[in-house]
Amino acid sequence: MDGNTVYSAVQPSGNLTIGNYVGSIRNWLALQEDHNCFFAMANMHAITVRQDPAELRRRTLELAALYLACGLDPEKCTLYVQSQVPQHAELMWVLNTVTYVGEMERMTQFKDKSARHADNINMGLMDYPVLMAADILLYQTDLVPVGQDQTQHVEIARDIAVRFNNRFGETFTVPRALIMKQGAKIASLQDPARKMSKSDENPNACVFMTDDRETVLRKFKRAVTDSGSEIRFAPAEKGGISNLLTIYAAFTGKTVEEAEKDFAGKGYGEFKLAVGEAVADGLAPIQAERARILQEKEYLRGVLAAGAERAFKAARKTLSKVYRKVGFYQGE
Ligand code: TYM
Repeated sequence: MDGNTVYSAVQPSGNLTIGNYVGSIRNWLALQEDHNCFFAMANMHAITVRQDPAELRRRTLELAALYLACGLDPEKCTLYVQSQVPQHAELMWVLNTVTYVGEMERMTQFKDKSARHADNINMGLMDYPVLMAADILLYQTDLVPVGQDQTQHVEIARDIAVRFNNRFGETFTVPRALIMKQGAKIASLQDPARKMSKSDENPNACVFMTDDRETVLRKFKRAVTDSGSEIRFAPAEKGGISNLLTIYAAFTGKTVEEAEKDFAGKGYGEFKLAVGEAVADGLAPIQAERARILQEKEYLRGVLAAGAERAFKAARKTLSKVYRKVGFYQGE
């Protein structure tokens, strides 16, 4: 289906937060209905910071189970593990040769991660956006549904695609990011100026997809708000409250305006409890389904094998075209 291909991925590093869910996975559900979707577990990106191998393997399967538990349907979309499709690394190599070191050094996430992992500023960390460009371009992707923090990486993938096409002739579809109006940047519950991140040191800053009800309620109870009393969506002045309204809306399927109306005249305490309950109610069935799927090892293995095969076929087609364009001998 031309003009219709969607690609996105999540790293199986650390526990996923409700930010990952609201900003990405949740938005994929509608897309799988009428688009040709590829959703990966980006384990090759994950090793750019140190990972425990056994844990990485386990988390990869857990992420696959989470995708399915959230409602992604392997009959409707291609779910696969990035490292099982070797063309990602192969295309990355070619794209490396049309990407400049200076561009990579300027990437916000590279600068942040270099600061956080000063003892491990490896080449992979710097090359991370090129691998991401390879992911996206391999499938001739039109749309990349991601959270706000990934927009710069999708922009560079666009730049790389345009540059390659200009140099070698039409090869790649030029992708664009699909950023939802609401929920593209879920903030930390402890510091509304920062994004909710799975690597946050403060355990109260983020809500994990696996948190139990009591933990969820406690974290929302402790969420930082402001000294006012009005429950109103105003991100600049009321970051904490606006973030909670966004989360509430995402988990109840309401709009932010409807959420504001629900809480007109109510106190912050009552509001925070209601947000916590909405999130806990939304997470419970996903958690139960995730646990059930993780028990069904053969089923999960089958889904990932079929996904890898489908992805492989699509990827092979693009890579062969790329190799032809750059003049690689392919045994012909
Ligand atoms: P990752 O694993 O850091 O995050 C996965 C997705 O979750 C979104 N996200 C958020 N959205 C809203 N609020 C937040 N607080 C929040 N935190 C994270 C991210 O924007 C992302 O959409 N490099 C990517 C994975 C990747 C990828 C790709 C994505 C690899 N290849 C190709 C798109 C296309 C990453 O690390 O995402």
